[in-house]
Formats: sequence, structure tokens, C-alpha cells
Amino acid sequence: MAKDVELHSPDFASRKRIGRSGWSSPKALSRSLLLGSVLFSLGLISLLTGHIASDIEWSQFRGRWRSKKGGYRVPIDIWKSEFSNLYYGCSDRGPNFRPAVREGRSNGYLLIATSGGLNQQRTGITDAVVVARILNATLVVPELDHDSFWKDESDFANIFDVNWFISSLSKDVTIIKRIPDKVMRSMEKPPYTMRPPRKSTPEYYLDVALPILLRRRALQLTKFDYRLINELDEELQKLRCRVNYHALRFTKPIQGLGQKLVKKMRRMSPRFIAIHLRFEPDMLAFSGCYYGGGDKERYELSEIRKRWETLPDLNAEDERDRGKCPLTPFEVGLMLRALGFRNNTYIYVASGEIYGGEDTLRPLRNLFPNFYNKEMLAGEDLKPYLPFSSRLAAIDYIVSDESDVFVTNNNGNMAKILAGRRRYMGHKRTIRPNAKKLSSLFKGRMRMNWKTFSNKVKSAQKGFMGEPDEMRPGRGEFHEFPTSCICRTTAVAEGLPKLGTTRGETLPTLTK
Ligand SMILES: *[C@@H]1O[C@H](CO)[C@@H](O)[C@H](O)[C@H]1NC(C)=O
Ligand SMILES: *[C@@H]1O[C@H](CO)[C@@H](O)[C@H](O)[C@H]1NC(C)=O
Repeated sequence: MAKDVELHSPDFASRKRIGRSGWSSPKALSRSLLLGSVLFSLGLISLLTGHIASDIEWSQFRGRWRSKKGGYRVPIDIWKSEFSNLYYGCSDRGPNFRPAVREGRSNGYLLIATSGGLNQQRTGITDAVVVARILNATLVVPELDHDSFWKDESDFANIFDVNWFISSLSKDVTIIKRIPDKVMRSMEKPPYTMRPPRKSTPEYYLDVALPILLRRRALQLTKFDYRLINELDEELQKLRCRVNYHALRFTKPIQGLGQKLVKKMRRMSPRFIAIHLRFEPDMLAFSGCYYGGGDKERYELSEIRKRWETLPDLNAEDERDRGKCPLTPFEVGLMLRALGFRNNTYIYVASGEIYGGEDTLRPLRNLFPNFYNKEMLAGEDLKPYLPFSSRLAAIDYIVSDESDVFVTNNNGNMAKILAGRRRYMGHKRTIRPNAKKLSSLFKGRMRMNWKTFSNKVKSAQKGFMGEPDEMRPGRGEFHEFPTSCICRTTAVAEGLPKLGTTRGETLPTLTK
């Protein structure tokens, strides 16, 4: 099956060969994995409550990929987690969660200016609702960022269904479209503006922001992204999930077009992979990595890099070894083929501008000839959206969300947010490249046969496949690992391996 893999892509031919010492034997690999997991456990706040068990489970899962049954290797189902139907999203309000404070009795009006691209803004909007809740404030529908790198004039209502946003959260927080004129006229000064530090605590908002809000009646928080701490009490985490996974719905036209593309994919194939590629020139330049494009690339990216004055000099090779470089489209394709996806798999590529355009994508297309993107599927329907990068991103978000398998080449906001959402929606398979391990495999690719490469990739990807037991307390950002909002079914499924029965202990909410 591996015969049609393109072995002599220019991408690889030009890459510097490294000595034998540059990559690990399987033994060293597993030793470093083990060491990694031990170190990880040590970093956890509590060692005594089930984390040991979770490590054992994890290693059982890791062994699973190669476990032998009747002499055959039993591969994991690359399309769907075996355990996904044991979990479901749970973000209902608790019985003691008090109702929203009405506008007339609130502590004032909270204005929010979000920051960044569509998905970074999504985290800001989510946290805005929670901060309004903490402050007993009336939230004014957040303003979107028009000046980010992504330059998009769209307002909230152009992207999200604003009435649904307001009504679906009405029990939690009072949200209005604008401050009433009467109130505006009665205010002596314009709203006070401040930028909270990153990851501020609820206490910060109560101690610093609340007195200003009470004094001025309106407070505007700017650059609002990741301005609220990751850890919050369970009820507030669930509120985050209600906002992110339920209240933030795209407008009907965007939703309609996204679903149309999903239908088109499904008509061609009952299941498909969505690959989210971030490969914009700016992003590549910023990374300081080298992507195999020779002197032309080195020159072009270093020119772009001059735009930022404070960037350190990075060694491209080191950055790659450290797993800091987004995978090239070809590398993503290789990883997928190595994991076992066949060349007749249908793929949807979600992306903005790709550095090198068609030339960069060709090696991926060769690996997966059934290659589609929104431009190919939507045709004329896409025209009204072309000037609006956030609306285009929303369409990719929808198709990626609906895909059977979601893969990214990067660790950006969309990758994290969709990974979390897909866990919430029933642990739909989400593959995140373990770039650090894969980089040495890609480098050594020409020195091993396909089967060896494939096995090494499978081994490197354990723990990065979107399996339920990858969620461990303290791991990552809440929107990537929304532990408080994922519950386990109580029904004990028959015939499950024993590890299935202790699995829930890895999630703190399930034992409460
Ligand atoms: C918000 O309202 C609730 C219920 O009325 C009250 O218990 C709480 O102290 C209020 N918090 C703030 C910050 O005003
Ligand atoms: C997949 O690979 C096989 C064997 O190499 C080849 O015959 C077939 O045409 C390929 N399928 C597609 C969709 O390219």
C-alpha cells in the first residue's frame, strides 16, 4: 500500500541529512516517553488521587496499538475512538447557580473589545460572559477586532447569531446590544477603559474592575483574549462551555454554506478528514523555521521577519528538533498515510493563504488525490465571503467540526478550540502531530523502509490521537481540555476491557 508514497519529494531531498545519533532507537523512545510521563505526574498538584491509575491506563492504551490478538496486530480504529461513546458533553447549570442579574439591578455595563483572529476572539467572548457573571454586570455584545493581522470589518452580528447568543444565555448573564441612550446621556464621562493582565483571577476582577464599574457605570476591557485564568470553579467552567459550545452559533448564511460543503463531502464519501493547515508566509517567517524551499524561501521569509523588530535569531534546525515548526502539508500527509489512512481517503483542506501555493500543496495532493477545499466546493457561493477572512475561517471551522477526523499542522487557536469542542461532542477523532518526535522521523525518513517509518509514526502519535484518556487534570488550556464539561455514561458497557471501568477517574468531575 505504501508504493504510491512519493519518496523523492523536493521537500525532503533538500533537507540536511543528520548522523545516526540524531534519532532515537525504539527503546530510547519509549524510555523518554516513560520519563516524560513520570515528570508529568510529578508536576501534578496531587499525586495521590488516581493519577497513578491514569498513567497505567495510558500505557495500556499505548500498548493497545500493537497488541497481538490471535497472532495479528490489532490496530486502533483510526477513524473513531473505541471509547468515545462512553462520554458525553455535560454543561447544564447546577441547581444552585443563581439566575442572571437583571439590567436594572446590575453593577453596571461591561463593554468588551476582543482581539486577534476568529478563534482567539471566541475565547475572549467566552471569558467576557464569565467576567460579566463574576461582576454581576450587564454585558454589551462584544466588539470584534477589526485591526488584527486578519483585517476583517465584520461585526459580531455578521458572524454570530446575536439574538441566539443573548437568549440562550439569558439565565446566566444579561446581555444587551448597546447601552441605552438614556444611560449614556446620564453618564458624566465616557466608559473607563482598561486592559486586564493576561489570565487574571476572579479576585482581580472583583478587587480592581468592580470598584471602577460601580463608580463609572460602564467599563470597557480591551485586548480581551485570555484575560481570565484557566482554572475556575466548576460552575463557571460549565458556563464557559455553554457559551463556547452552545451560545456561539454562526449566522444562518454562514452555517448554511458550511453545511452545504459538509453535504458535498459526504455525498462523495461517507467519511472524510479535515486538515487545518496554517502555512501563511507571515506565520512561517515568525516561526524562524526552514521548510525546504531553498535560498528563495530563506530570503523571502527573512525579509518578512524584519517586520518584527524584537525577534531573536533562531536556529531553524533547533526549532525543528524542539517541535516548534508547523508541519508542511507534505509532512501532514505522510503522517496520515503512516497512521494508516489510505490514498483513497477524502480530505478537506481548511486554510488561508498557503506559502508557495499549489507547489506546496502538490505533495499532499499526491498522497491524497481526493483533495478538496472551500474554493473547490463552494464556487460562486463563496464570493460574498471573500473580503472577510473571519467569515471564511468560520466556514472552515464548520466543515472541520463536522469531519470524522480532524488534523492540524499547528498548535494555534483554531486547532485547540476545535480539539476541545470535538472532545465535548463525543470525542470525535482529533489528531495533533507530536511535532517533536515526528521531526526526527521525517529527517530519517529516507533511511528506513515504509513499514518501519509507519510504526514509528504510530508510536510517536500515541497520546495525540484525541482519545478520552488523554484528558488529564492540569493538562493544557481549558478550551482544549474542557474536563469540567465531559461526563462518563454510568452504564457499564459489557465486554469492555478492564481499563474501561477506571477510566473515568482521570477526569475530576466524574468522581464528584
Ligand atoms: C452578585 O449578586 C449575588 C446575588 O444577588 C450576590 O450574592 C453577589 O454578592 C453579587 N456579587 C457582586 C460582585 O456584586
Ligand atoms: C492509490 O494507490 C493505488 C496503488 O498504488 C493506485 O492504483 C490508485 O490509483 C491510488 N488511488 C487514488 C485515488 O489515487
